[in-house]
Amino acid sequence: AAPLTIGLLGAGSVGSQVARTLVEERELISSRVGAPVRLAGVAVRDVEAPRDWRIPGELLTTDAEALVDQVDVVVELLGGLEPAASLIERALRRGAGVVTGNKALLATRGAELAAIAAEADVPLHYEAAVGGAIPILRPIQESLSGDRITKVMGIVNGTTNYILDQMDTTGAAFDDALHEAQRLGYAEADPTADVEGHDAAAKAAILGTLGFHAPFTIDDVHCEGITQVTSSDIEAAAASGYVIKLLAIAERFDGEGAVLRVHPTLLPRTHPLASVRGAFNAVFVVAENAGELMFYGQGAGGLPTSSAVLGDLVSAARSVRTAGAPAELSATDTTMTALPITK
Ligand code: HSE
Repeated sequence: AAPLTIGLLGAGSVGSQVARTLVEERELISSRVGAPVRLAGVAVRDVEAPRDWRIPGELLTTDAEALVDQVDVVVELLGGLEPAASLIERALRRGAGVVTGNKALLATRGAELAAIAAEADVPLHYEAAVGGAIPILRPIQESLSGDRITKVMGIVNGTTNYILDQMDTTGAAFDDALHEAQRLGYAEADPTADVEGHDAAAKAAILGTLGFHAPFTIDDVHCEGITQVTSSDIEAAAASGYVIKLLAIAERFDGEGAVLRVHPTLLPRTHPLASVRGAFNAVFVVAENAGELMFYGQGAGGLPTSSAVLGDLVSAARSVRTAGAPAELSATDTTMTALPITK
C-alpha cells in the first residue's frame, strides 16, 4: 500500500524533534500506526535557519498550502493564530487529519475548529497543547468522561515554574532565570506570553473546556503573571513554609457557574504541586467519583513535547487509515511481537 503521508508545518524546537523521529524512527511509527508512514515535507519560513536537527533539504519547503493539499495528516507546529488557523481549516476541509500543539489558537478558535473537524469527520488532536509530554487532555476527554470534574489546578507553564524555582532554590535573579529558560527551549518565541501568564491562561481555557464540557476562551480567564513577584516575596513565603507557584485554576460550582484564573499562588510546601521543580508541569484534577488525581511530567522542551505530538500523530494516522477501509483493519496496534522474558 502507498504510505500515509505526513506534512509538518513549522520546525522550531518541537517541530525539529518530530521531523527527526519521523525520519530516524520511521519503522517504529509505521508499526504503531499499522501502515507505512512517510514524512512528505516540512513547511518553514526560512529554509536556511539553524535547527535543533538538520532536516534533509529535499523535505523543506516554504509553500505550506501546497504541502497541506497533498498529505493525509497535517501536523501544525507554527504557533500563533495566522496562518496556522487557515492552514488547519484547509486541511480539515479536504479530509486530512490534524495534530496541533497550538494552545493560543485552540483557546481562541478551538470550538470552531472542532466543529469543522466533526463535520468533515476527521481527527483533530492537540495533546501537546497542555502540559508538554504529560498525557492530560485524553484522560480528561476520555478516561474521565463518565465522571464529573469539579476542579482542575495546574502548573502548566514550564518557563515560569523554572524561573520561580530558580529564584526559590538558588536565589537567581528573574532575568537570569528567564534567559536560561529561553536557552533551554522552554520559553515561547515571545516570552511575554509566559511571564505575563497568557500561555497558562490559554491552557486554563482548554482544560476548562474539556473538563466541564463547556466552551471557554482565553478571554474568560482572569490572568496575572509573575512579573510582580520579587525575591523578597519568595523568601517571605519560604520562611513561613510556603512556595509561590503560578497556577492555572478552573473550578466549577454546584454544576452551575465556573471560574477560570491564572495567578501566583502561595502553596504550603506539603502540597503535591509544591514539589514540582524546574520546567516540570503537573495537573491536579478533582472529579466527583474519582476524587483527586495528579498528572506529572516535562511540560516544555522540544523532545518531551514531541512525544505528545507523535502519539497524536499515530492516533490520527490510524483513523485516517481505517476511515472507509474494510472492517478487518482495526484502529489499534496489531503488530505485537513477543519479547524474551527473564524470570
Ligand atoms: N512556553 C511554554 C512553557 C512551552 O514554558 O511551558 C510549553 O507550552
